[in-house]
Order: sequence, then structure tokens, then C-alpha cells
Amino acid sequence: MVKLSPSVLTADFLTLKEILPQFEASGVDMLHLDVMDGIFVPNISLGVPVIKSIKAHTNIPLDVHLMIDRPHRYIKEFATVADWLGFHYEAGSDVAATLKEIRELGCKSCLTIKPATPAEAIFEYLPLCDMVLVMSVEPGFGGQKFMPDSLPKVEALRREAARQGLSLEIEIDGGINAETAPMAVAAGVSVLVAGNYIFSAEDVPATVKAIKSL
Ligand code: DX5
Ligand code: ZN
Repeated sequence: MVKLSPSVLTADFLTLKEILPQFEASGVDMLHLDVMDGIFVPNISLGVPVIKSIKAHTNIPLDVHLMIDRPHRYIKEFATVADWLGFHYEAGSDVAATLKEIRELGCKSCLTIKPATPAEAIFEYLPLCDMVLVMSVEPGFGGQKFMPDSLPKVEALRREAARQGLSLEIEIDGGINAETAPMAVAAGVSVLVAGNYIFSAEDVPATVKAIKSL
């Protein structure tokens, strides 16, 4: 069964306390938290203190997506609140060293690629990853249109992980909805991030169940 990681980026943060129990009851697997610094991406979102508050109100594993410049500077801090901790291949840190540090600090490691980065660029790092995240929009904002060019990259990563004998989670992020989720799953995605689609749904538990039964 595919896993679901709702992104709270476009949610009203003050409503999260009521929404988190609904997520727990409907079998949400992770909670996707987008950290933006206004430099690596042209937007600013949240940091460790907000994640800490969310963590105090839920047992759902936290899936932290760092969209920050030179993320190695902040790994120690985010590792205190994250369960899954991911950063961008393009963000200017030593990729192997940063992935190793994440694992040493007790988190699951995730390496993320932007739409213009080919899947092959990260093949050598797969043994150090628990998950890879393929962006299906330019990172920075919720509510954008899904880029279908992300699908062959998912397929290539799925093939390469099998060739290397790795059991790897492959996550996709951006523009996931009832129409694009099945395509992503068919390509080999095992974790779907969905922001607007979940938070604009009238019946959140039903939407979560529908997406997870794909
Ligand atoms: C974009 C973020 C996404 C975003 C997804 O940079 O990484 O997680 O919140 O939102 P939707 O599902 O609305 O595209
Ligand atoms: Zn994200």
C-alpha cells in the first residue's frame, strides 16, 4: 500500500491541532514539513520551533523537507525533531557526508532532486539513502501543476535501486491529486506528498483512504 505524507505548507497552522488526530485515525503515514529559507527557494516557511510544537501533538512520523542553502549547517538541529530528514542534492552541501550524518543522528535519510536534475546524478548516493524525493514541481510553493517529466525519473530510480539490491522509499512531491497519484504509483512511487489536495478536501479521512488504496 502506498504511503501518504500530507504537506502542511498551505494549511492554517492554527487548525493543525484538530487535524492531526483525524490524520492519525485515517492512517496517514508521515507528516511532510517544508522548510524554506528564502535563499535556496524564493519563499520562507517554518523552522525547528514550529516543528517541535507539531511533534508535541502527534505520533505521526515527521518527514522534514529542507529547502535551504548549505543544509549541513542545520542537520544537527533538525535531527532533534525529524524522523525522516531530507535535503536537496543541489543545495551546496557534501552529499555523502550529510546523508551519513543524518543516519548517525538516528534519522532516516532522504536525498531530494529538483525537476532539472537527472535521476542518474544521485545513483552513487543511493546506498546512503533510506528515501529519495523526486520533485514534481519547482520547489518553493504549494498548489502548482504536476510535471509529468518526473515519472521517468521515478522509474529510473526504482530500476537502479533494484539493481543495487536496495529497498528504498521513493517519494514524490508537488501537484499530487486524484489524477496524478495513480501515475506516480504506477511509476514506482511508494510515498505520496500531497498538500492542497488533502487540505482542500471536504472529507479529509475519505480522501486519505482513497489515495492510500491506490
Ligand atoms: C513545494 C513543497 C511541497 C508542497 C506540495 O516546494 O515541497 O511539499 O507543499 O504542495 P501541493 O501538493 O499542493 O503541490
Ligand atoms: Zn515538500
